[in-house]
Amino acid sequence: MERFPRDNAYNRREVLKGGALAGVGAAALSEGFAAEPLKSVRVGFVGTGGRGTELLRNLLRLEGVRIVALCDINEANLARAQDLVQKAGQPRPPGYSKSDTDWQRLCDRDDLDLVVNATPWQWHAPISVAAMKAGKHAATEVPAAQTVEQCWELVETSEKTGRHCALLENDCYYREVLMILNMLRDGLLGEPLYAEAGYMHDIRAVKFNTVPNGEPWRLEHAVSRNGNLYPTHPLGPLSWWFGINRGDSFSYLVSMSSKARSLQEFAAKTFGPEDRRSKTQYKLGDVNVTLIHTEQGRTVTLYHDTNTPRPKEHLVRIQGSKGVYNSMMERIFVDGRSSAASKLREGWRATHEWEDPAEYRKQYDHKLWREQEANARNAGHGGVDYLELYRLIKNLREGKPLDIDVYDAAAWSVIVPLTESSVAGRSKPVDIPDFTRGKWKTRAPIDPDAIG
Ligand SMILES: NC(=O)c1ccc[n+]([C@@H]2O[C@H](COP(=O)([O-])OP(=O)(O)OC[C@H]3O[C@@H](n4cnc5c(N)ncnc54)[C@H](O)[C@@H]3O)[C@@H](O)[C@H]2O)c1
Repeated sequence: MERFPRDNAYNRREVLKGGALAGVGAAALSEGFAAEPLKSVRVGFVGTGGRGTELLRNLLRLEGVRIVALCDINEANLARAQDLVQKAGQPRPPGYSKSDTDWQRLCDRDDLDLVVNATPWQWHAPISVAAMKAGKHAATEVPAAQTVEQCWELVETSEKTGRHCALLENDCYYREVLMILNMLRDGLLGEPLYAEAGYMHDIRAVKFNTVPNGEPWRLEHAVSRNGNLYPTHPLGPLSWWFGINRGDSFSYLVSMSSKARSLQEFAAKTFGPEDRRSKTQYKLGDVNVTLIHTEQGRTVTLYHDTNTPRPKEHLVRIQGSKGVYNSMMERIFVDGRSSAASKLREGWRATHEWEDPAEYRKQYDHKLWREQEANARNAGHGGVDYLELYRLIKNLREGKPLDIDVYDAAAWSVIVPLTESSVAGRSKPVDIPDFTRGKWKTRAPIDPDAIG
């Protein structure tokens, strides 16, 4: 199967043809891939650590889900998960823990529909590919892959096997994210032009295993890699807003990292200056900044910082041609409307005052939250850990296209290796592959009303 990197004859041909593609088969291309509806979803679950346990708890609360098999190389985590399933009233599932590729035996079972995977990063793509090749849908924790090659492998395997590969990007389901989607659909902010977002979360204690149930695998990446290693939380929401893979497409990026200092300092303070970890040269720059350009001329500033001491920051600024929403400030400005409100209050000088978004929240609140808020209560990350699985299982049972499909999984995850290439090359521009092979031009944008 031919692949389509960004700057190629195929893309140029489509540009020359102009809107010609829009008429031809547009409906079929825009519908997205759907599989046969499933009466109930029989799940094999791999990776029952911190994240896996939260996902499992939420899956067990959903109607029409059976947890049939579990896999983890850590016997204690596996047993805890088996207990959870049993306590929820389902038969105790068999455990797979013989080796770090025992998930292959789980995938090969003939009584599963879906393999969910919350293992460390390096296993995501291999497990998803194995699941699809064995005829199961795959749902993976973020990011879906670590290399460009793996991203293509996910797309090609999904296309060949007709199985889904869903990305479990919970950040797409925040109330504010879906509210902004409603605002953009109604034109309140005009055309989206620019977004600024990031993953800025001090996880030094997790990396150095100084918290209960901590683990060593994240630190290994910080030793040997430099770039944005965790881009999908911020990229998911803004991809929905921009219509990435659905009317727009990531085109190229440049990326730059600051020096690496904070991990060494943390290690010296925690373990003493003579400790091996205090002398390790960490490659991962403390603060990475990436700029992304899209085919429709939109831009993104994307931050990654998991090393420095700081409160967690949910930075989101979405700028449209008619207004801007800033989640950190909890403020909105709508051209005409906000100016008029502040003019009345403070006279002509204050024509560009921010507004409190309270009234807008009422007007643009998304139906998923209105309908599912009670069920999502107590779930992780303010409820979105429930909502992402609720949506996945509902779409699988109804045989509908997924909210976040394999093209999204690839386009959002490929940012990891591409930022590494850019950083290593003095922030050189790097093309972002078009995993839809031009279909982004005719696929319909995500419909907020279809998310319910
Ligand atoms: N979406 C979110 O909000 C969110 C939050 C936290 C973590 N995550 C993601 O979830 C994943 C897991 O993170 P975590 O914090 O739970 O890590 P963790 O170390 O707590 O859990 C990983 C589990 O996978 C098991 N495991 C490792 N290698 C395995 C293999 N080869 N086969 C089977 N099991 C294996 C480990 O024994 C462990 O139980 C990561 O990809 C992380 O990025 C996502």
